[in-house]
Amino acid sequence: MPTSRESRPRRYLVCEPRHFEVRYAINPWMRAEAPVDAALAGQQWETLMRAYRAHGHTVEHVPPVAGLPDMVFAANSALVVGGRVFGSSFHAPQRRPESTEYETWFKTAGYDVYRPESLCEGEGDLVPAGRYILAGTGFRTARAAHDEVQEFFGVPTIGLQLVDPYFYHLDTALFVLEEDAETGEANVAYYPEAFSSGSREVLRRLFPQAVIATRDDAMAFGLNSVSDGRQVFIAPQATGLIDQLTARGYVPVPVDLSEFRKAGGGIKCCTQEIRS
Ligand code: ARG
Repeated sequence: MPTSRESRPRRYLVCEPRHFEVRYAINPWMRAEAPVDAALAGQQWETLMRAYRAHGHTVEHVPPVAGLPDMVFAANSALVVGGRVFGSSFHAPQRRPESTEYETWFKTAGYDVYRPESLCEGEGDLVPAGRYILAGTGFRTARAAHDEVQEFFGVPTIGLQLVDPYFYHLDTALFVLEEDAETGEANVAYYPEAFSSGSREVLRRLFPQAVIATRDDAMAFGLNSVSDGRQVFIAPQATGLIDQLTARGYVPVPVDLSEFRKAGGGIKCCTQEIRS
């Protein structure tokens, strides 16, 4: 019998896709020959926002900036834990100005922002999971940033090596299903082949109960999902994963962000969590 899961209301930071398009290619998903349908992208994104609000979550907006087509991927701009903001330093020159835009939003909202010295793409590669922060490296975030994260938050930070260019950010290969604030226990879903063999072993040891996704579900951006502890906002194409989550007592909420996949993004990429 699946246990009954409890959700916790979240605060999400997002950026409307007004200027979203594929203008350059900085990951294998991006191809200028497959243009984005801007109207459809806007509708898909609004559907996600409505789904968040319908489930009791708060959504805050960073104003979109012309000339920054990837700014919609809010997750990459910071990691916020305990009301403390660890900012970003992007790998691709095209995305570097985004850091300042998000920093301005945080400062106006009353937060100090720490600017990392090493390349670091926020929640794209930094994933709080109970008593740890999981930290990806290999394509974007530098290993040295993991030390800065650990030093800044004082939370044990576990480095994980990504090896497949289709899963260039940790949040394309793994997401957190639930966390217990009291015990520090957490559970995750992930695609093992996206990681080096040593990192796979680390994940196996840390999360023996994890949901293991197939390549098809991972390629459908099924691991770029957002869980509130009960509802899992997930790509509808990740059918195998949806079945597994249902069997474990989670409630999948399918939201199709197919237009954003053309830029290598999905639900989680469009969503930064502000953890107070
Ligand atoms: N085009 C963006 C990039 O390659 C997509 C970012 C997706 N964000 C994410 N959190 N995985 O940087």
